[in-house]
Amino acid sequence: MSRIAYVNGRYLPHAEAGVHIEDRGYQFADGVYEVCGVRDGKLMDETLHLERLQRSLRELRIGMPVPLPALRHILRETIRQNRISNGMVYFQVTRGVAPRDHPFPKDARPSLVVTAKRLNEGRIAAAVASGVEVITVPDRRWARRDIKSIALLPNILAKQAAREAGAYEAWLVDADGFVTEGSSTNAWIVDREGRLVTRPAGPDILNGITRRVLLEAARREGIEVVERPFTPEEAKSAREAFISASSAIIIPVIRIDGQPVGNAVPGSTTLRLREAYSRVGELS
Ligand code: PDD
Repeated sequence: MSRIAYVNGRYLPHAEAGVHIEDRGYQFADGVYEVCGVRDGKLMDETLHLERLQRSLRELRIGMPVPLPALRHILRETIRQNRISNGMVYFQVTRGVAPRDHPFPKDARPSLVVTAKRLNEGRIAAAVASGVEVITVPDRRWARRDIKSIALLPNILAKQAAREAGAYEAWLVDADGFVTEGSSTNAWIVDREGRLVTRPAGPDILNGITRRVLLEAARREGIEVVERPFTPEEAKSAREAFISASSAIIIPVIRIDGQPVGNAVPGSTTLRLREAYSRVGELS
């Protein structure tokens, strides 16, 4: 069965789907996106993802490409046409097509692209079972990381550096020496006292939907949570570390810059939170 993509009102074979060369997403990375998990055919935390999309669009003064109920329908239809039961749906909105010029175009209509794909469940299960390695690199991104912009050059360079170092993820470190987040994940540790530590939401990080659900899950589990920045050195001597994102929810981190975290095995609090995540469901 061939994959289907939604592009500006049409469902097309993936290989034939495209946008105009003067789409501002293509020319300026002038757009935003979301990645929403699909489990048993259902969108996970759909409302939270749609709220974040609308916030990103508002911050950049890009209009909604279609009304919200229509967008919800398009996401479901893309999942249905691709017969995804466990996977991810990717949706991207750009400012639209206009002759290349830096200021906002006057009458461009926002472009909407939606794709869906199966989850590589084997790869995720292996990463969860064994834990993964991260490296630390300087955070070279712009000052509005709370906007889920498609401009991801520093993120891809960091991820590539991780891959070349044989690591799974790169943790980005700010000018003051604190970890902001991963190149496509939020960063967490469990400190020596058993407290869950992650950087507070703000312009320095993307406020992950998984992050938000996990904070709630931790509180319900009676795990103490502290939202504060931490350094790579503290993380290396922490009890546990992990990363979170909508695709894999939680992946344990067992090594940072080659140094073992704890006993270099997935931590018990990490695995407990992974279990607890599924019980929280959608936050209102
Ligand atoms: N990445 N931080 C960054 C920089 C991210 O790109 C992501 C998500 C997260 C986690 O956010 P969430 O829990 O809402 O998925 C944190 C997606 C999955 C991506 O770029 O593919």
